[in-house]
This record gives sequence, C-alpha cells and structure tokens, in this order.
Amino acid sequence: MKGAADTSIPTELAFVPQAAEIAREAGARLREYFLEGVETEYKGDVDLVTVADRTVEKLIRSRLGEVFPEHGIYGEEGTRERLDAEYRWYVDPLDGTTNFAHGFPQFCVSMGLEHRPKNTKPEDDGTLVAGVIYDPMRDELFAAERGRGTHVNGKPAKVSRIQDLAESLLATGFPSRKRHSSPNVHFYHEFTLRSHGVRRAGSAALDLAYVACGRLEGFWEFNLNPWDTAAGILLVEEAGGRVTDFAGAHYRLASDEILASNRLIHEELIGFFDDLFAGRNLAPIPTPEEFARARKERALGK
Ligand code: IPD
Ligand code: CA
Ligand code: CA
Repeated sequence: MKGAADTSIPTELAFVPQAAEIAREAGARLREYFLEGVETEYKGDVDLVTVADRTVEKLIRSRLGEVFPEHGIYGEEGTRERLDAEYRWYVDPLDGTTNFAHGFPQFCVSMGLEHRPKNTKPEDDGTLVAGVIYDPMRDELFAAERGRGTHVNGKPAKVSRIQDLAESLLATGFPSRKRHSSPNVHFYHEFTLRSHGVRRAGSAALDLAYVACGRLEGFWEFNLNPWDTAAGILLVEEAGGRVTDFAGAHYRLASDEILASNRLIHEELIGFFDDLFAGRNLAPIPTPEEFARARKERALGK
C-alpha cells in the first residue's frame, strides 16, 4: 500500500492505525489530482463532483475491503456495501469538493466507523467507535477511537477552554442543494455579531476536526450527511466537546441539524438558537437599499 503509516499513533488501537494509513493514501491521491487540476461536473444546481471524488472513493472502498472484509461501507459517491454488517464506515472521499475544484486548498478525506450490534434496528444509530480525517495539504491527520481520546498527528488534542460566545470563533457551512430554502444566512449574521467571527471554510469535516483541536469553539450546519459528520463527531466528543442538534437533543446521524462545540459555550449557543427561531433579540441590519439611501444622503451632506 502506498502512503507511509503514521507510526506516532498507538498501534493497540483497533481501527485507527489501519484507517489512518488508508486516509493518508487517499489524501495523497487527492493532493496529486489537486496539483494537476481536474475537470468539474455538476451533480445538481451547484453540487460539484470530480474524477477525484469517484476514484478516491473506489480506492478507499477497496482498501477497507482488504483490511476489514466484514465491515460495511456507506460512501458519498454511491458505495453501499454490506449494510447489514456489525461495523459500518461512513466515507467522504473528498469533503470540500467546491474548494478543491477552484484550487482553494481546504479539503480532506473523512472516514467514521459506527458499531451496530446485531439487534440494532435499521432506523436506530449504533455507536461511533473510530474516526479519521486527513488534510493532505497540511499533512494533518485527526484521529479518535472511542474512549482513547483525539489525536492530531499523534499528539493528544483537546477542545478550547473559552467560556463565552463573545470570545469565540465559530464556523458554519451552506448547502449546495436546495440552497434557496436555507435560512442559514440569518444565523450567520446573528452569530457574527455575537462572536469573534464565523468562518465558512467549505469542509464540514475539517470544521469539526478544528472544534476538536481547539481552533474553533463551535460549528453548526443544516442538512449534512453521515459521511460529512461521523468521523468529526467522535473527534469532538473524544476531545471533550459536545455534539447535539440545535435544541440540545442527542445528535443522530440522520439529523438535519448539527451543533458542535467545546462544551463550555454549548448552552449559550442553544439559547441563541432558541431566540433566533423564535425571532427574539434579532439584530437589524440595513437592507442594501436603505444603505444606498443613507450613503447618498451622506454624499449630499444631509
Ligand atoms: C460539503 C462541505 C461543505 C458543507 C456542505 C457539504 P462536499 O461537502 O462539507 O463545507 O457546507 O454542506 O456538502 O460536497 O464537499 O463533500
Ligand atoms: Ca462532504
Ligand atoms: Ca464529498
């Protein structure tokens, strides 16, 4: 197998060492494609896909099949294998395709493993037991195994200790599907005014990894899929953070809402979501028309 194994990860972990090796190999392929440049196709309105997404998913599927032949695989680009298996990998071969297609170097490979004991009902979640996210442009490997903590390139990682939203840096993302019905720009605006700022870097998996290692205090998004979130959720939880829906309820892989934080600002975030959904304490901003009128009046010296 190409791609060096990360020797700094304790080998007694059951899944992470092998998954990390696969993610590194997959990431190396993404990096090659990125440097060469690839054609972009459209899956939907602005939902992009490239040869890199498809080829790297095939690579991960084949490597996981070699290393964990009994595990199931559920991949963004269509892989559906052994979905009745006790273990199931959620694979996003390229999280951040829009960035990738534009030459913006923020994207990753994400692989999360769910344990689904035999009696798990199809509609129920199992337990996330391992997660690996690899950023090939920075050569950063984020990894977690349940009960064993989160590591970044082999070093233990923890969420940040910031206690107030007002001193926090947050992240969010906007959907490429059904984007005309997304209310998220309102949330973006309100949280921007209540924090040090909100980043929209374009890779939900890396956003979650950054919450886990203390670079961000919080992250929220509407309508993500399990391949975007499975690995990152475990990274956040194992680093001491919290992941719920916007009302603070237990996060489910099929959830339409994800809210992840360093735990310390979580209740404050939930309180603001409550306010925003109820239309309370909104901060008005001028419409472009109002702004243009005021600008004109200023120019006329009124
Ligand atoms: C997307 C990225 C992005 C998020 C979108 C996702 P993709 O995944 O994670 O940050 O805002 O909702 O669909 O399509 O690049 O794998
Ligand atoms: Ca994704
Ligand atoms: Ca993807």
